[in-house]
Amino acid sequence: MTFQNEILNWYQQNKRMLPWRDTTDAYVIWLSEIILQQTRVEQGLPYFYRFLEAYPTVSDFANASETQILKLWQGLGYYSRGRNMLFTARQVMEAHHGVFPTSYDSLIRLKGIGDYTAAAISSFSANESRPVLDGNVFRLLSRYFGIETPINSSKGKKQFMELAQALIAGQLQPSDYNQAIMEFGALQCKPKPLCHSCPLRSDCYAIKNDLTTTLPVKEKK
Ligand code: ADE
Repeated sequence: MTFQNEILNWYQQNKRMLPWRDTTDAYVIWLSEIILQQTRVEQGLPYFYRFLEAYPTVSDFANASETQILKLWQGLGYYSRGRNMLFTARQVMEAHHGVFPTSYDSLIRLKGIGDYTAAAISSFSANESRPVLDGNVFRLLSRYFGIETPINSSKGKKQFMELAQALIAGQLQPSDYNQAIMEFGALQCKPKPLCHSCPLRSDCYAIKNDLTTTLPVKEKK
């Protein structure tokens, strides 16, 4: 079986039920992805629900005050995320008449939305074939394919992006594939990986070469 099909199979059997996976609403997905940056799912979940209840649409969000947003954000840390979100929501009102964009090219132009977030929103909301590369995905790809280039070097970023693009190309459901590869990295190919129960173990470069604790390589800056 291909790497992609192994991942998708595993996902069908092991995925967590998470609320942002049952929607194609780009606003809701944006909300979840910004909250989950630098935040664990269990910690982010209650905030996600609170924000969605307080601001069901991007228009509600854009009309909030910074004080209200930061109050709801309390305890999550990295408060610039909350502040930037308000800016992004107001930009969506002005530049997109309150309709949250779903295409990568429109999303990447918004302040506060980088490559990862644009790829996540466009694939989850519109099935665009854009690879998500978060820490979980870097770890999994570096181990399975044996990539020793530092993940935080410009050479490494390019190399991982090219590989990730090749892997998602031809996927019929880029949305599921992206959720699956992130989930696999988060639950199976963890920093301390669960190799004994891993469906990829027979073809994993890191297992064959005893490099699971060495990969991914990160360069000191
Ligand atoms: N972390 C960031 N995005 C996520 C998602 N869509 N599902 C689970 N964990 C995530």
